[in-house]
Amino acid sequence: MLSMKKINQVAMAVFVTAVLSGLSTNVISAASSPHPFKGKHLEYYAQLDVRLPGISTAFIPPINTTVSANFGAGTLFALNITEEVAPSSKLLGSVRGYTVETSYLGFPDSWLLEVAFVEYNDGKYNGTLQLQGLAQQSLTELAITGGSGSFRGAKGYLVVTLVVDSLPTRTFRHNLTFL
Ligand SMILES: *[C@@H]1O[C@H](CO)[C@@H](O)[C@H](O)[C@H]1NC(C)=O
Ligand SMILES: *[C@@H]1O[C@H](CO)[C@@H](O)[C@H](O)[C@H]1NC(C)=O
Ligand SMILES: *[C@@H]1O[C@H](CO)[C@@H](O)[C@H](O)[C@H]1NC(C)=O
Ligand SMILES: *[C@@H]1O[C@H](CO)[C@@H](O)[C@H](O)[C@H]1NC(C)=O
Repeated sequence: MLSMKKINQVAMAVFVTAVLSGLSTNVISAASSPHPFKGKHLEYYAQLDVRLPGISTAFIPPINTTVSANFGAGTLFALNITEEVAPSSKLLGSVRGYTVETSYLGFPDSWLLEVAFVEYNDGKYNGTLQLQGLAQQSLTELAITGGSGSFRGAKGYLVVTLVVDSLPTRTFRHNLTFL
């Protein structure tokens, strides 16, 4: 029969082992400071195929189109991301999130708040990125507000460019800059 002290020692050893093995499989993520992406760029392509259920404009209806235009209307999306522009190129993960129309009749712009996360794994770097900003027709620049795994503590910005506009396919290039 193990004494209480012994049990505690065993429990502590298990805990320490778990923490250490966690570190050893995540060398890039936790230990590196500054993180390996500082000052670097990363690029991938987000694939939208409107025939797939990966985008829904029925996510949240507008509050009241008579008095507040499209205010409140939400679109939900879940798209694959790939290494190259071709949808058949290497799959790296996904970008998932939503946009919400923030313009009320008193604000004649059409500004969409976008909130999304990227799940990214290219075999070397593996983790998630949190994105937030204003989605616009001409130039969308989102902030990289953080991340996990290889991207823990990430900060920077991302520029979205529409590179293929040929329905049912739309492909966006995401150009990420880490600060
Ligand atoms: C994502 O890629 C997988 C594998 O290529 C494919 O089966 C799936 O349909 C794609 N999903 C979307 C939303 O494009
Ligand atoms: C929208 O607002 C107007 C004005 O208050 C109201 O008459 C109408 O019933 C509302 N529509 C809906 C769908 O709530
Ligand atoms: C990538 O990270 C996720 C989340 O931490 C993990 O579940 C998965 O096993 C990792 N994949 C590889 C290939 O390391
Ligand atoms: C990506 O963004 C960086 C910084 O804004 C820029 O120098 C680079 O040319 C961009 N790459 C592409 C392919 O647009």
